[in-house]
Amino acid sequence: MAEILGLGLSHYPPFSGTDADMADILRWTMDDPAIPEAERDPARWGERMRAEWGEDGGAEAAASHRAALVAAFARARAALDAFRPDAVVIWGDDQYENFREDVIPPYAVLAYDDLEVRPWRQAQGSSDMAGKPNVWGEPADTTFTIKGRPDIARYLAGRLLDDGVDVAYAYRPLHHPGLAHAFLNAVLYLDYERRGFPYPVIAFPVNCYGRRVISYRGFLSRMGERRELDPPSPSPARMIDVGAAAARALRDSPWRIAVVASSSWSHAFLCDRTWRLRPDTEADERLYDALVRGDLQAWRSTPLAAIEEAGQQELLNWFPLVGAMHELGRGKPTWTEFVGTDVFNSNKVFASYEP
Ligand SMILES: [Fe+2]
Repeated sequence: MAEILGLGLSHYPPFSGTDADMADILRWTMDDPAIPEAERDPARWGERMRAEWGEDGGAEAAASHRAALVAAFARARAALDAFRPDAVVIWGDDQYENFREDVIPPYAVLAYDDLEVRPWRQAQGSSDMAGKPNVWGEPADTTFTIKGRPDIARYLAGRLLDDGVDVAYAYRPLHHPGLAHAFLNAVLYLDYERRGFPYPVIAFPVNCYGRRVISYRGFLSRMGERRELDPPSPSPARMIDVGAAAARALRDSPWRIAVVASSSWSHAFLCDRTWRLRPDTEADERLYDALVRGDLQAWRSTPLAAIEEAGQQELLNWFPLVGAMHELGRGKPTWTEFVGTDVFNSNKVFASYEP
């Protein structure tokens, strides 16, 4: 009989790297001449940010940030192992990785077979880990097999189309030989202890970066830099409806499915309001509070402009999770965790909705 587990987690790339490198995005931003010098001066920062930055550019704080993330991923993995899913459907962003100028679908179901991935060799243009040491000390040619369930993916795409959600689908990769980092890192981090990840994965990319997906390649730019913007991403309300339709499809299926939202919340490098130095924590806390209370309306009524201004583009991955769990009448999570930071680019949120 069908059963659905909901999970929310982060795919924060620097978690793959070393503690000494964890604040590198902030270090890069601090070199941006378009940001007033006074704003870039640590002496002017708030107390928490100064404490995290410390005397060592965040290296010591990185160890505690990592410890909090390791514990949260272990909690999420335990929920997954207890549930024993037939497949794990992951909503994640594609940051100019598999989808590029030739096609940007608003969202898509990747009905892949088993896939060999090389996280470090394929990091070029994807996870920002190219040429950097990884925390596991794995060599560049390290290979993992991520299992697929194209039959379940085909069923899901078919049912979504029947239900009025015009989803794209694909049977093989386009530009990225493996999986974009939102999906790959979710698996690598759920297997932080490297015991293996036995569950098939169905990637469900969402065009989170919208106006910035091709123009800025969904990544860093200097503050004053203006480029011609792309059309927007799908709206938050639409992504809630997509998640609700996915829940209806999976509820009527014979399978046990984990649905996963993969992304950190506000990203400093996208948030002009904070001079791109730290995430918009107030905006994150408002939505986190609504998540914990199971307040669907607060999520549904969030305009895309508010998401973009808060640097919460990737949070679009969480709207289908929220939509799915509310559709199942289980809008309140069973467990949540907010791992806040000023120095490590993004606040990280974890949640589970256990049946
Ligand atoms: Fe991402």
